[in-house]
Amino acid sequence: MKKLICLLIAVCMVTSLAACGNQAQTEVEERIGIISAMDNEVALLLSEVEIDHVDTIGGVDFHVGTLHGQPVVIMRSGIGKVLAASAATAMLNNYPISKVIFTGIAGGVGDETQVLDQVIATRLVQHDCGTITNDGFVWSSGVAEEEMGEKDFYACDPELVDLAFEAAVQVVGKEHVFKGTIATGDQFVSSEEYVQKLQQDFDAIACEMEGASIAAVCTQYGLPFVVIRAMSDKADGNAHESIDNMGDLAADNSSRIVIQMMDAMRG
Ligand code: ADE
Repeated sequence: MKKLICLLIAVCMVTSLAACGNQAQTEVEERIGIISAMDNEVALLLSEVEIDHVDTIGGVDFHVGTLHGQPVVIMRSGIGKVLAASAATAMLNNYPISKVIFTGIAGGVGDETQVLDQVIATRLVQHDCGTITNDGFVWSSGVAEEEMGEKDFYACDPELVDLAFEAAVQVVGKEHVFKGTIATGDQFVSSEEYVQKLQQDFDAIACEMEGASIAAVCTQYGLPFVVIRAMSDKADGNAHESIDNMGDLAADNSSRIVIQMMDAMRG
């Protein structure tokens, strides 16, 4: 009899502990992941966020806090596809992220997008993926079709695209906001000839160095994402000079749009 009572008590304790565990799991607060590549792209956000704490993982600082009423994790990944993908992976592995917003600057591709215009990506592509053949470089997305939103392109979440578009209209005005394809590669583009190629091959309206790698990671994790970029230059021969003059202003504009998105989510 004594043994039976002991057994019953043990079962009760295990069940209530398990219930506690489940409760803790369901109470975990989901956060919006906000990613930029460079210091100037994240500066305004860090000045506005109420920081709860900062974790350093793999050399990247993850700022956990509240941005205009929304629970967020903000981080600066570093430049290029590798650093962006690895920092995004660390973020998704360590925090309960519900959606991802990438904000920063880009080179405008073609006549449509001028310096300080804003591009909201509807889809992204890696323009530097492919095969070096005896006849030159042959592009291919390198990813199976079923893993992407559309063949060869990573599709952004339509609801986040609409939210970002409306926010951008509020911040920079309708005539300065464009939706379309962003081409990503591990190259700073400063060439009129390459800009034409990005237009012709991918119908791109902006180019940068991280977006598609964030898109690839979010796609693997099944998370909605959007990439928003302010044009700091035209990706032409003048690109470096333009980025020196307009980069900080463009970066702040893009951050303002993220803040406007937070306000809109709060309603
Ligand atoms: N980010 C800003 N301008 C860029 C450019 N011209 N090429 C690649 N990334 C950029």
